[in-house]
Amino acid sequence: MCGIVAAVAQRNVQGILLEGLKRLEYRGYDSAGMTVMHKSALTRHRTVGKVAALDECLANAPLPGKAGIAHTRWATHGKPTAANAHPHHSDDQVAVVHNGIIENFEGLKRELEAAGYAFSSQTDTEVIAHRLADTLAGGATLFDAVQHTVRTLGGAYALGVMSPREPGVVIGARQGSPLVVGVGIDEAFLASDPLALLQVTDRFIYLEEGDLVELKNGGRIRIVDRDGQTVERPVHMFEYADGAASKGNYRHFMLKEIFEQPAVIGAALEGRLGEASALAESFGPEAPALFAQTRQIQLIACGTSYHAGLVARYWLERYAGVPVQIEVASEFRYRHPVVADGTLFVTLSQSGETADTLAALRFAKALGYVGSLAICNVPGSSLVRESDLALMTRAGPEIGVASTKAFTTQLIALMLLTLAVGKGRASAGEQAEIVAALKTLPDICRQVLALDGDIETLAQAFAEKRHALFLGRGAHFPVALEGALKLKEISYIHAEGYPAGELKHGPLALVDSEMPVISVAPNDALLEKLKSNLQEVRARGGELFVFADEGVGIDDSEDDVTVLYLPPVHEALAPLLYTLPLQLLSYHVAVLKGTDVDQPRNLAKSVTVE
Ligand code: G6P
Repeated sequence: MCGIVAAVAQRNVQGILLEGLKRLEYRGYDSAGMTVMHKSALTRHRTVGKVAALDECLANAPLPGKAGIAHTRWATHGKPTAANAHPHHSDDQVAVVHNGIIENFEGLKRELEAAGYAFSSQTDTEVIAHRLADTLAGGATLFDAVQHTVRTLGGAYALGVMSPREPGVVIGARQGSPLVVGVGIDEAFLASDPLALLQVTDRFIYLEEGDLVELKNGGRIRIVDRDGQTVERPVHMFEYADGAASKGNYRHFMLKEIFEQPAVIGAALEGRLGEASALAESFGPEAPALFAQTRQIQLIACGTSYHAGLVARYWLERYAGVPVQIEVASEFRYRHPVVADGTLFVTLSQSGETADTLAALRFAKALGYVGSLAICNVPGSSLVRESDLALMTRAGPEIGVASTKAFTTQLIALMLLTLAVGKGRASAGEQAEIVAALKTLPDICRQVLALDGDIETLAQAFAEKRHALFLGRGAHFPVALEGALKLKEISYIHAEGYPAGELKHGPLALVDSEMPVISVAPNDALLEKLKSNLQEVRARGGELFVFADEGVGIDDSEDDVTVLYLPPVHEALAPLLYTLPLQLLSYHVAVLKGTDVDQPRNLAKSVTVE
């Protein structure tokens, strides 16, 4: 995935680049590096581990200079070593940072080796540095060299490039990986995400696929599209407050983001509800016409966003009467789908840049869907720009790698979709009840978050365990999946989510006193069936932890059952509410285990490689 930041400024850029990397660390954090132009020469530091290691290195040996590029890495080709860290140089004539994967790098590498270039890393990126050097040696300008080189690259890239031949210049290019231009006052910047640059500007240009950009001294910016035409791209003001990128008084971003949920759920609903429905126009001016034609929905997403889609399938069928198919993007994009008439293609993504989800959208465009809708948290992201309709989830920047508030606001957006696209299966009265319940939801969420102390105590039972099983039924089966995903992501405890009715078809064999079983048990139509499933666990000596409605009648008089009661909530919204204690449980288990909660090992927040 990796994060890129670059600057051509009127002042020393080391601090700007370093701060940018810290804010991009969610994209990868196994090594980092920076190259700065000093007295018309490239100077570089690269370190293994988090950006803090680079910070320490720079404190001892600063890199002064007014133009520079920097990178935080999530390894794809080659282990996280200093030699594999970016920027990659070719004979100190070119420096390059790269996010993405060059799929044809092996062939390019062979050609370059035959031409006498020596490789010092195992990365795919180094071919770009040497190809650029080769083209520059032929007399090309840096811009022309990048334009020429990217035409030979297969795969995905966002690039930042500099050369001592043109000291006050940085070139950027994007194809398949995100890159924005930050517009300063007589200064210009590049980054994988606007968040990285909020310290220096709130004005951004979102580059289009195939764009090249030249940043020059004095804040001059030139953009050329994939056809070689100079183009003007609009400058957008960034909406978020910069404070969103700091932890405030919380120990971790994840905890802060969990506690932000009542507020962001309120924000996600703001101005989007009628008396007994959701306002279809919230999805875009063409939404009412498109929803009228919609007969089916195809949902596509990855990771936590996929779990939000799984919940929505229950809602869309139960309340909207719309048939739904759902699949993870990495599978969908390689299938040969048969598309029924009137099917709306809906992508769910926090970042709007997930490579598989984006590829699935592009693939879907030729398949005859009635239209596309992106439910997304990042305005201006690729997914939003390339979809016919979009609904922003308004969660604000989510920094913790494990997704929390992005998930619950996606659920809000999906409930709004359910209400807006409804085909009359739910009566006006039923819809009005859901609308009323949505309005009280932020308060009920606050009550659940007040259980934090109890959940922290409960977490102690998990700290020494190696496995856990999460059970739910109906729309709470995906809640169980999400609970299990959260626990494995940040505490490294192996966890499985299961529909409780499937327990007897296999996982029951795993149940013993070493396998804690967590269940969500709201008072719904499947409660009695769930209770029977839980008896099956107790009968095998399993230890049960149940999040339940008051009065569900689960006997917790014995030591083998712990029940934590949640306030009552409308049945439709229970999946959202019951997600909260599972988030807190994972968080506290991870803290007890001493893991890196916000940046769990091997993961990254924005997955811009396939
Ligand atoms: C990564 C993140 C997950 C996220 C998934 C999909 O795996 O670590 O938290 O759910 O990508 O990301 P998206 O931005 O498309 O929702």
